Amino acid sequence: MSNFEPKLVCFSCRFGWGYLADEDALASQIDNWIPIICSGKIDATHIMDAFRQGADGVLILGCPEGDCHFQDGNFETRKRVYLLQKVLASCGIEPERVRLELSVDPEGKTIAERVKSMNESIKRMGPVKRVPSAA
Ligand code: FES
Repeated sequence: MSNFEPKLVCFSCRFGWGYLADEDALASQIDNWIPIICSGKIDATHIMDAFRQGADGVLILGCPEGDCHFQDGNFETRKRVYLLQKVLASCGIEPERVRLELSVDPEGKTIAERVKSMNESIKRMGPVKRVPSAA
């Protein structure tokens, strides 16, 4: 398990995270970082697709509560993440593999730190248990 290097996918809302930063520079520092228009655009299929394609965890960075540019996108995402975490737990998968953080970081200085922090917690969990598909 000590050689395990988690694969993390990070979706971050452009309105709250890194809008003053050079996206190309950030992308070169952070693997699998996907800037999006609003955290509310992320639904369960995006998250499950990430797991299906080999991710061990998904981090979603959205705007603070009450500060979503699309009214309640981040609130909807919070509900989706909560429900998805319940589904994951019922399948024996640690719900902490999906994390939503609602805050703001215009310069994107903490995105890499947050990815690193989540990577460390996933590393402690080990690889996600994958069930072979029936098809
Ligand atoms: Fe940032 Fe909706 S605009 S979470």
